[in-house]
Amino acid sequence: RKRLTVPAIRQRKGGGEPLVMLTAYTVRTAQLLDPHCDMLLVGDSLGQVIYGLPSTVPVTLEMMAAHGAAVVRGSYHALVVIDMPFGSYEGSPQQAFDSAALLLKQTGAAAVKLEGGAAMAPTVRFLSERGIPVMGHVGLTPQAVNVLGGYGARGRSDAEAEAIAADATAIAEAGAFALVIEGVVEPIAIRITESVACPTIGIGASARCDGQVLVAEDMLGLFERTARFVKRYDDMAARISDAAERYAAEVRARTFPGPEQIYAAKV
Ligand code: KIV
Ligand code: NA
Repeated sequence: RKRLTVPAIRQRKGGGEPLVMLTAYTVRTAQLLDPHCDMLLVGDSLGQVIYGLPSTVPVTLEMMAAHGAAVVRGSYHALVVIDMPFGSYEGSPQQAFDSAALLLKQTGAAAVKLEGGAAMAPTVRFLSERGIPVMGHVGLTPQAVNVLGGYGARGRSDAEAEAIAADATAIAEAGAFALVIEGVVEPIAIRITESVACPTIGIGASARCDGQVLVAEDMLGLFERTARFVKRYDDMAARISDAAERYAAEVRARTFPGPEQIYAAKV
């Protein structure tokens, strides 16, 4: 199969089969997830998940480029989207273009994602008109944690709900090819999905979005996080602990390596 393109994703707006998206940060994970996904997101959530950072704020362009290149090498079907890290795009459309161009050149990915609402709309337009497809991200925007004060659901007050809807409209009208809606009360996600022209990708949003995304490590049970919107499809943490425990026991008992893992001398 040929790799999915941005226009192919854009065409999936409304009605039909929902878009399937997961994060991937490494080559092997990308290889395993790629056949099942329409899009792979190299999320800046790698800051916490891979690097143990306290938030996504310290994540750098270099980190995103290195992991993005690995994910492109490990996939051939899904459209790969790379998060623009905090501080690499908010200053000006020109700064955003330089950062996004670097990510696409160094990784081979076809699109970037950036967080923010109406204030970022001119930047989305600037990039889209210059050959860089942009996925938007509204609602709970983790890079704004120092302004928001935490990761609670957004849009509980009418004023906040209106602001999020206006953000979504502004980003979509600026030319975003798709829009992540994260951590909002469900009616806003439905309203945005029904009003914008591009596909919406929900996370903690609504099954009525045009697609869904989760952090792979979250849904695999590999990362300690208790967000309501994470459904655990496996408990990989328990499986890895168990494997390490059995390996340690066999090393200590001198039963590993066994005859099958030993090179016999030539006779
Ligand atoms: O960084 C990330 O993983 C994301 C998704 C949760 C949408 O932005
Ligand atoms: Na992100």
